[in-house]
Parts: sequence; C-alpha cells; structure tokens
Amino acid sequence: MIPSVLPTYNRAPLSFVKGEGSWLIEADGRRFLDLGAGIAVNALGHANPDLVAALTEQAGKLWHVSNLYNIDQQQSLADKLVDNSFADTVFFTNSGTESCELAVKMARKYFYEKGQPERTTIVAFEGSFHGRSSAGIAAAGSEKMTKGFGPLLPGFVHLPWGDHDALREAAAKPDVGAIIVEPVQGEGGIRPLPDQCMKGLRDLCDEHGILLIFDEVQCGVGRTGKLFAHEWAGITPDIMMVAKGIGGGFPLGAVLATENAASGMTAGTHGSTYGGNPLACAVGNKIMDIIADDAFLAEVNRKAALLRQKLEGIVAAHPETLESVRGSGLMLGMKCKATNLDLVKAGYGAAVLLVPAGDNVVRLLPPLNITDEDIAEAASRIDAAATALEQA
Ligand SMILES: Cc1ncc(COP(=O)(O)O)c(C=O)c1O
Repeated sequence: MIPSVLPTYNRAPLSFVKGEGSWLIEADGRRFLDLGAGIAVNALGHANPDLVAALTEQAGKLWHVSNLYNIDQQQSLADKLVDNSFADTVFFTNSGTESCELAVKMARKYFYEKGQPERTTIVAFEGSFHGRSSAGIAAAGSEKMTKGFGPLLPGFVHLPWGDHDALREAAAKPDVGAIIVEPVQGEGGIRPLPDQCMKGLRDLCDEHGILLIFDEVQCGVGRTGKLFAHEWAGITPDIMMVAKGIGGGFPLGAVLATENAASGMTAGTHGSTYGGNPLACAVGNKIMDIIADDAFLAEVNRKAALLRQKLEGIVAAHPETLESVRGSGLMLGMKCKATNLDLVKAGYGAAVLLVPAGDNVVRLLPPLNITDEDIAEAASRIDAAATALEQA
C-alpha cells in the first residue's frame, strides 16, 4: 500500500521535534549535530531568537495580502538586496525551483522584446541542479531527474563541466540566449567553478550578447563567506536565482536582475500568490540585516577555515575512507573512497547529520553561525563516523 506521504524520498528513520542552534533533538531526547542545516537553508541555525522574533511579530500583524497591493516588508527586502548586489530589481518567489522558472522566462522574454525571438536556447552544465519543475529538470538535464517526465521543456543544451571548447562553440550559436550555472555546484558534489572560469563565462557572454544566469540557491546568502558566491570572482551575472538561506527556514526565494535583463518583465508577465508575502519578507529582512554585514561574513570565513582544517586532518587520518576536501566557505564536501551514503549512515550512529551529494561526496552545510565548540564537536563526530565505518 502506498504510504500516505508520497514516497519520493528515502528518509532516514529520524524524526526531530525541536531545534536549537546547530542541534536537532529527537523525540527521545537524542541530540544530533546538524551539519546539513536543512540543505543550506537554516543559515542562522534552528530557532534563532532574532528570526523567531521577526516572524512572530509579523504574524501578529499581517500574514498575507496578495501582490495586488504594496507590501512594505517586500519593498524593504528588495531595497536591501539591490543595495547589496549587482541587481537593480527583485522578484520574490517561494523556492529555488520557482526562481529557476522565472530566470528562464525572463531570459527568453528579454530576447523576444529585443527582436531576437530565436534566441531561446539556454546552455547548462552536466551535474547541475536547478530544481524539480519542468524547467528545472530540463535545465539540469540528467537522466536521473528527467527519465519518464517527457516531453521535456525544449531549449536547453548540456555541456560537460570544464569543457571550454564546447562552451565557446555553443555560445557562438545564433539561437543561444543565456548560460545558467551554479558558481558552486551543490547537488553535483560541491564543485566550485574556478574564478578564472567565472571571468571567462562573463567575457563569453559579453562577446556574444548572452545573458549570464547564476543559480545561487545553495551557494548564496553568505554560504561561501561572501554575500553571494560570484563576488569572489569579481564579476556579476545578469540574472541570479536565490532561495534557501534567504528565508533561514521560512520558504522564500528571489530572482535578482539588472534593469536591462529584466526589461521584458512588465506588468502582467509574471506573478505569484505567495511570493514576497509579509511573513517571509519579515524573516528575509532580518536575515539580510544579520548576514549582509562584513563582520558576520568575516566570521563565516574564519569558521570555514577552522572546519576545513579539521576536515583535512580527518581525511589524512582515514586515507582508506576519504579522499579530499573541497568547496568554498561553509559549503564543503568530502570526496569519499568508501560509499558516501555509508558515511552519512555512520554519521547517524555518531549523532552527526551529513548530506550526500553527487560524485560520491558528503556535504557539510552547517549554520553560518555555528560555534567554534560545535565545529570541534563536528570534527570528532565525523572522525568517529569514519572509524565506525572502517570497523563495520
Ligand atoms: C542550486 C539549486 N538550485 C535550485 C534548487 C531548487 O530549490 P528548491 O528545492 O527550493 O525548489 C536547489 C535545491 O537544492 C539548488 O541546490
């Protein structure tokens, strides 16, 4: 008999009833150190008092009014995002997938309005992940995500990661309008795009008049130690997808764009019932107040260096099980020699939550405000998990 919850997930036998900072607590009182943070969502940990206050204060005033009216919290969050990024304008969504939908629509509408309606093709990369909607799975293109769901949304081509010749050839085609890429691939196995490649992509897009779309759903909002990951490379996109961390656990996403890239999106061309609602934006405003701050981001970088150093030590101590550490900021991956899923399972035994990713990688995406003590605890629990796996 089919379970009452559609069985699209292989769930671990854990049910959490409470969260405190970087910790999740089971009904029986067991405490797990959460290095997944809801897959890069709980940017400030669980039950953060500032976020709880922002949400509950707003909840007592106004939940929802629809986008037929001005929404003050939405306006102020849009202003903060514009002030702190390349963008001139923002549309709010409820998830990364919805941000992908709009990014694709915006790019196509741009060329339609510019009198180049043939430029509908979007270049994407193998190993990428952009969400589970029809546009999202077509953009990512992997068989795992698309098999059985055809006919797929047309107009995407997929290039191997790091194949510069293929990229140059694709970008020169007259039907290509945009390139979509994660500055750090998340689901694909924590693969950062080197700064040189980021710059090369920008140059290529400028040369051919192509829009550059960054998917910063997982790597954005302070995760890599800059507010947005592309800042490390010193270049900017035309369109950017955001979600996850911007809501700190409350569903919120956004598409940020330059005035030029957004020029086709006039009244009536897009909408969302819930996108930019007062509750989500009250939380998003508080997230921005805390994270878009040099001192906070400096701490993320310091903690990232500390965690990375400890992970390097664990890899050195377990050469049969682990191969290397990679990633950026607090978006780290341990490439495994053992099966990554087995290490994640061993983590449950050591009461530490890790997240599997592609390319046999185990992901660490802890809250950005994880404490030094919890980083030390994380290292000792991962070490214990690796030891348990070796002794199994
Ligand atoms: C890079 C990237 N893009 C898009 C998405 C889809 O986001 P959501 O699950 O909020 O729809 C994800 C989710 O993991 C992601 O990591």
